[in-house]
Amino acid sequence: MARTKTAFFCTDCGNETLRWQGQCPACGAWNTLVEEPTARTRTERTRGTQSHATSSAPPVRLRDVEPGDTTRWPTGISEFDFVLGGGVVPGSVVLVGGEPGIGKSTLLLQVAARLQHAGRGALYVSGEESAAQVRMRADRLAEPAGEVTFLGETELETVLARAVELGPAALFVDSIQTVYSPALDGAPGSVGQVRECAARLQRFAKEAGVAVFLVGHVTKGGAVAGPKTLEHIVDTVLYFEDAAGLDHRLLRATKNRFGSVDELGVFRMTAEGLVVVGNPSEIFLAERRAGTSGGAVVATLEGSRPLLVEIQALCTGASYGAAQRVATGFDRQRLAMLLAVLERRAGLKLAQADVFLNVVGGVRIAETAGDLAVAAAVGSSALDRPLPADAIFLGELGLGGEVRAVGQVERRLAEAARMGFRRAFLPERSVPRTPPDGLQPIPVRDLEGLLRGALQ
Ligand code: TYD
Ligand code: MG
Repeated sequence: MARTKTAFFCTDCGNETLRWQGQCPACGAWNTLVEEPTARTRTERTRGTQSHATSSAPPVRLRDVEPGDTTRWPTGISEFDFVLGGGVVPGSVVLVGGEPGIGKSTLLLQVAARLQHAGRGALYVSGEESAAQVRMRADRLAEPAGEVTFLGETELETVLARAVELGPAALFVDSIQTVYSPALDGAPGSVGQVRECAARLQRFAKEAGVAVFLVGHVTKGGAVAGPKTLEHIVDTVLYFEDAAGLDHRLLRATKNRFGSVDELGVFRMTAEGLVVVGNPSEIFLAERRAGTSGGAVVATLEGSRPLLVEIQALCTGASYGAAQRVATGFDRQRLAMLLAVLERRAGLKLAQADVFLNVVGGVRIAETAGDLAVAAAVGSSALDRPLPADAIFLGELGLGGEVRAVGQVERRLAEAARMGFRRAFLPERSVPRTPPDGLQPIPVRDLEGLLRGALQ
């Protein structure tokens, strides 16, 4: 008997290589390559078993095509609908990735309950938990989940057959790593199984017009394929992660064929499941202490949504050896540049100082609009003079110490005003013609002007 052909697959990114290596040549992850049957073997084996293949659609002119149905099914869970781009799209596949225990099953059971309650049948398939366990979770939720249909099954063919039989509007598969097809080589959770099962669920979704939700555990190494290996197969990828302490959860769209990416939804895990946090900025600012030096607030953008975050800096005299520069949630190179500008253009003595920078709440600032807040925080800490508690800082800093314009100022200022801020230090050119009520824009031209105007 001929031996099955194998290759090495990365469980992080799914890349295929012929030889084993310690590091994946595609994504650079270590110890993620596992030996599996090659794709060719798998497609040959599955050709006969694809009951949902879309093989023979004739070519058509685009103008003769019925425009796609643009209906959306809102779940009523506002942050979830928002991140999806306005609700669930029938016939789409949504992957919800996240670390074990973060709340993926809870979120999806709540979504299932809402859809079911709105008269759209929901079938919840779990290969991870028993019916009794899911029932126990359902009982805790604020949503009535009792009418959701449960199926404890891991074999793909059976899942699809039951789904065809029951005809639900939405199918939930928890998790894609436990589903497998005996027609394929490879163990459940292997790159090949996970990808092929997802691809067949995708075909099923398109053909039946069913919204399919897949749970994908983020795994740290090991032989189980992570959600990244599926990103190109599904329509929408949402990641669920924790932030700002233990109870808060951020839901982020990293891919969305039916909406914009980088949208952020904020939830809180309670005894009754996940609750929408309508005013996300509040949590990030909740623990702010007015009157201490080194803290500055910036209105950053997460996708199109403004988010107020505090940047904290701590400058201390270096003990000995090289000065330390530690940045959490902010680019280290950019911090080094800003420190050099502060030193050269504002005369701060930082070369010998240890500088620690922290963006509160686990948020990451990837845009240059955060420069001014970083400079203000560092300046405030270095001189030990607090910044006004009712001010936000917005602007990019150039090497000459000049403050440069940033985009989407109106949105950011509106959010700041809503959250009770009274002043905004921002680039001269970014001052809006009609600032929001109660918020006074303070134009700043350069670093010196900033420190002169803001430090108390
Ligand atoms: P779970 O949805 O099982 O996470 P995942 O599917 O991502 O692995 O939920 C994880 C945690 O949430 C679990 O430790 C229990 C907790 N939890 C609550 O705090 N409140 C609740 O109402 C529910 C259902 C779960
Ligand atoms: Mg789970």
